[in-house]
Amino acid sequence: MSLELRSPCKVNLILNILGKRADGFHELETLMHPIPFFDSLTFAKNSAPGIQLSCSDPLLRTDESNLVYKAAKLFGRAASVDISTIIHLEKRIPMAAGLGGGSGNAATTLLGLNQLYDSVLSDAALQGLAAELGSDVPFFLQSCPAIGLGRGEQIHQLSPYPILEGCWIILVHPGFGISTPWAYQQLARFPEARNGIPGRAAKLDASLRSGNWTAITENIYNSLEAPALEKYPLLELFQTFFKKAGAVATLMSGSGSTTFAITDSDKSAKRISAEFRSHFGESFWMKAIGLGF
Ligand code: C5P
Repeated sequence: MSLELRSPCKVNLILNILGKRADGFHELETLMHPIPFFDSLTFAKNSAPGIQLSCSDPLLRTDESNLVYKAAKLFGRAASVDISTIIHLEKRIPMAAGLGGGSGNAATTLLGLNQLYDSVLSDAALQGLAAELGSDVPFFLQSCPAIGLGRGEQIHQLSPYPILEGCWIILVHPGFGISTPWAYQQLARFPEARNGIPGRAAKLDASLRSGNWTAITENIYNSLEAPALEKYPLLELFQTFFKKAGAVATLMSGSGSTTFAITDSDKSAKRISAEFRSHFGESFWMKAIGLGF
């Protein structure tokens, strides 16, 4: 039996860091939105024991350091099964990009193996494993927009936003990644960004719900832009460009390095993408995606 699953990515419409915790992580509130742009994972039971992982991208290691491998190993231990599975990862989502590609792969692996092994683990058990694998992993066990609290792993599902129906999102990756630990460490130099005021994610949710773009653009925010835009001014140039070109909102996603811009239609996404290309050249990875799943 084999199984193929899509593994989506996300953007953070807000990432508001509230302070550094005693365990070294940062307390935060975030509103994550799923993006229908996918890696794909195939799972097949194998006669030989163990996990055999392959990946379309030669730059991604397929050993025990790979999040898919870690997820499979953790699943096997928690479910008390000897995993005998061939897993193939077809990678399309850029890496170290703030889009949660690796976290999505880990969550999809938990879901895929649970399907392959007769739903041996409960949803609550999968949640626990996902949180162990990484702060963003639990978000990808479900497919709705959601608020993440704690270190991001406490997921509160939200219903879809009618205002985003028909909107498009443009993702731009500048060709370099930003390390998540680096971005968080740098916050020590930006006390205001490190100690945000709680309640902003709920405020953004309310403005998205009310459908008022002025309020939405006032409320989208990312604390990690403070170190990232200081080190990489190009990312600020992207945002200035998108605002001038008529995007309804623009921000860096997660710990970067992807910048996203939301447009009100397919037509404006195509126009703005073409203008971006003629302004910045052809070398950056760029993708325009409709927000309806
Ligand atoms: O949880 P995850 O493995 O994605 O986190 C990667 C790193 O990012 C952590 O080791 C930590 O340095 C930083 N981080 C943090 N606070 C969070 C999430 C991540 O400091 N809420």
